[in-house]
Order: sequence, then C-alpha cells, then structure tokens
Amino acid sequence: MRRSASTRFLLAALGAVSMVLSLVAISCIPVPSPPSTSNPVEDPFMADVAKMVDEGRSAFRHATFGSEVFWGDTLGLHRTLAGEENGGVGAGVSPAAALALGLKVDVDALPEAVRTALAAGEVDLESAATTLDLLRLDAVVGVKGIFDDEDRLMSVGINCALCHSIVDNSFATGIGQRLDGWANRDLNVGAIMASVPDVDIFVELLGVDADTVRTVLNSWGPGKFDASLLIDGQAFHPDGGSAAVLIPPAFGLAGVNLATWTGWGSVPYWNAFVGNLEMGGRGTLIDDRLNDADAFPVAAANGFGNLRRANDRLTPALATLHLYQMALRAPEPPADSFDADAAARGAQLFNSSARCAKCHVPPLYTEPGLNLHTAAEIGIDDFQASRSPTGRYRTAPLKGLWTHTKGGFYHDGRFDTLADVVDHYDGHFDLQLNDEQKSDLIQFLMSL
Ligand code: HEC
Ligand code: HEC
Repeated sequence: MRRSASTRFLLAALGAVSMVLSLVAISCIPVPSPPSTSNPVEDPFMADVAKMVDEGRSAFRHATFGSEVFWGDTLGLHRTLAGEENGGVGAGVSPAAALALGLKVDVDALPEAVRTALAAGEVDLESAATTLDLLRLDAVVGVKGIFDDEDRLMSVGINCALCHSIVDNSFATGIGQRLDGWANRDLNVGAIMASVPDVDIFVELLGVDADTVRTVLNSWGPGKFDASLLIDGQAFHPDGGSAAVLIPPAFGLAGVNLATWTGWGSVPYWNAFVGNLEMGGRGTLIDDRLNDADAFPVAAANGFGNLRRANDRLTPALATLHLYQMALRAPEPPADSFDADAAARGAQLFNSSARCAKCHVPPLYTEPGLNLHTAAEIGIDDFQASRSPTGRYRTAPLKGLWTHTKGGFYHDGRFDTLADVVDHYDGHFDLQLNDEQKSDLIQFLMSL
C-alpha cells in the first residue's frame, strides 16, 4: 500500500519528535531552541554574551592587572605626574601638558559641575593638581591613579585603553567620549616613560646607562611603541631610525588569524604577552620561543618565556578581554569622507589588476588562513620581521584604515601617505597604474 505524501511526512515528523523525546528522556540533553529574535534581555544566552562582553570592556578600560607595581612603584610615574608641589618630583604634569602628550580625557567620567566649570574656562588646565583631580575621577583614559587614605597619589597603573582608545573630541580637543579600539596615534608613550624619575629597571635589563635609556624612549615619537625592546634589546633600525612600531587599532580583529604587525600569535596570545611584558601586569606567560637566547637575549636571560607571577590578575581576564576585542567592529567611515564613485572604481582595481586582494581578501582584508609574508614579498627590509619568531610580516587588515592615517603606514610608518603606499606597490609589483587609478585605489582604501 502506498502512503500519501502527507502521511509519510507526518510519520517522519512523529519519528523525529519521538527520537528527540527519547533523547531527552534518556540523557536529558537540552533540545536546542530555534534561533531567537527575542530581546537579549529575555534570551539567557544573549544576556550572558552581553555580560561577558561588558566584563571585557571593563577590563580593557579600567583593569591595571597590577601594573601599578611597575609604572608607579618601580618607575615612579605617579611622582612625575604629581610634581614637587603635590609630593612628587619636578614640575608635575598639568592637564594641558598631558593632552599635549596625547593623553585623553573621558568626559563621561566628569560630574556635571566639572563639565560646566571646564566649559566656562574655570578649570586650571596648567596645574598638576587638576591632573590629580582628573585621576581621582578616573577620567584620564588608560591611566589609573591609586590614592592613599589621605588622598595622596601613591601609585599609578595603566590600562589597555592607554594605547588602544581615543576620545571623539566632542567636548574639546582631547576631551570627549571614549572610542575603544582606536589606535592612539597622538600618544607619546616613549616621552612619558622617559619622564619617570627611575629608569633603573631598563638600565638593568638592557645593560646601558640611564641617559641611553631615555634617548631610546624619546626616539619613539607619537603613536609608537617598541614591544620588542625588552625582549631583544634592539633599540634602533640598522638605518639609524627608531625601532618602534605604530600602535595598531584593537578593533576589526574578529576573523583575523594572527595578530600584531609580525604575527606573534592570536589576540589572547598577544594580550598575555603585552599584559605581562609591556604593561608590567601580574600574570602568566608561557612561550618557549622567548627562551631562544640568540633571538631574544633579554627575554631568555630573565625567564620571560616562563613567567608565573603570584596573584595572577591577567589570566582570569583573558577570556572576556578576548571576547570584547572580537566584538569591536572597525568603524565605518563618514559618508562624505571619500569619493564614492572613485572608491567603487578603486574596488574593481583592488580586486583585479592591482592584485591587492591576493593578500588583502575582502571583507577581512587579510588572508583567511595564514596571513604572513616575507619582507621580500612585499618589497621592504626584514628588520622588524626578524625580531618576531615568525620572521614575517602579517597582512594588515585594512578595515577602518581611515581612523589611523596619522603617523604613516606599514608597521613603522615608513610611508607617510596612502599615495606613497600605492606608489610602493606600483613599483614593487610593476602594476603600471596611471594617476587616476592610483587615486581611485586611495579613495577605496579610505572607504573601508
Ligand atoms: C603602551 C601601549 C600599549 C598598551 C598599554 C597595550 N598595547 Fe596593544 N599594542 C601596542 C603596540 C605598539 C602593538 C603592535 C605591536 C607589534 O606589532 O609589534 C599592539 C598590538 C596589539 C594588538 C594586535 C593588533 C593587530 O592588528 O593585530 C592587540 C589586539 C592589542 N595590542 C591589544 C591590547 C590589549 C588588550 C591591551 C591590554 C591588555 C594592550 N594591547 C595594551 C601598544 C599597546
Ligand atoms: C603579498 C601580499 C600583499 C599584497 C599583494 C598587497 N599587500 Fe598590502 N600589505 C601586506 C602586508 C604584509 C602588509 C603589512 C606591512 C607592514 O607591516 O609593514 C600590508 C600593508 C598594507 C597597508 C598598510 C596598512 C597599515 O595599517 O599601515 C596598506 C594601505 C596596503 N597594504 C594596501 C595594499 C594595496 C592597495 C595593495 C594592492 C596595490 C596591496 N596592499 C597589496 C601584504 C600585501
């Protein structure tokens, strides 16, 4: 007897239902719920994701991971900030000076009365005491003041946001709402580090005198930092320039395989690295590659490849910190910031005859897969690549490129403008692009 189509369907459906029911009965496996379009507040999974991302954001913005032991207790940065008048050393750092060093102020952390006084020009921006007030309000992006019972600044720690957040300048230049993940290309970390009273730790690690340490730190300039200095002790490029690299954005990295200019590892790898070795946080870092004394003499001599500090404050934060960074999308450029028609023509070129998409695969704009290249492949020297265990450069993800045009392009900012970048590729790959094609490509890059 032939069953009708509808009967067959019914039997199959009943079979599926009873199978599911028996699975539930046997093992209590929860039946997956259908995709939810409900409000995250009512969807426990979405609510949990939101909670984890929020924890990650809080860590990114506010956690020092115990780095005050390094920046405050060891280097004495808080004493430089406070100045002699407030129990520190020297002139102190006024808000005006702090803003000039590229530090940013989070307007949302300021009480209404302070905002009103600021707008009315009634706040003394030339006094270090005002900087201490801003630190008390936790309003200096990336810098966390630690105050004692008598409200004196006794130490200072740093956050990820120091280098990887800016503000939107909505209140005044350098004062506004936080933009997390944006590279702070105004920030002169080297000058800030060189200003501390005590550089003995660098003297010890690098085996050079204090003046040399300060010269090296001052050679970095705005928007740059050298995460490898305390690993390999190399301070200068063979051409005589600084060995520092540009601070990259910490957004737009979901789906991107290897992180950092030279592909040291994944985002959580790098967070553990930077949290321990650059921020001086209290954590754990295990990477046998750092025990190679030829490549990383400073790291090998100091056991940086197997750091297990007591009271680990970093490892417990890595998961939510990772999730938060994955959730930070690259921001879209303002519609009027590029020529849309030229960008559309540029997109064609990028994906075809200019051969850019061979490596910068849209929409990630880096390779899905292994995103590394030799220096020779992209036509530059291998100095920085050879400071990384990969010996390669990572294909830079280009989404949000418009947010970091300050300081130049490529890992060390060697190309001042996008025109220089395009000219470089034109020559290196013998693309024979004409001027209009070059300018279309640039408009496309600015549209990402
Ligand atoms: C003092 C400045 C500074 C601080 C603080 C800092 N970073 Fe970075 N970050 C850098 C620099 C410079 C690089 C590039 C390093 C390289 O490629 O050699 C970088 C690279 C990265 C990258 C890789 C980006 C990419 O394009 O692949 C991520 C992600 C990142 N940092 C996240 C963080 C997080 C999270 C924290 C806090 C735990 C942090 N950083 C603290 C300066 C900083
Ligand atoms: C062989 C692979 C490859 C090809 C082809 C390629 N790139 Fe790149 N690109 C890279 C790598 C690797 C880097 C990182 C260089 C560095 O870190 O110094 C990079 C960096 C860049 C940057 C700088 C990003 C930044 O944050 O500073 C831009 C812009 C860029 N490429 C655009 C292009 C354009 C436009 C084309 C086509 C004309 C192209 N690339 C072709 C591999 C490639």
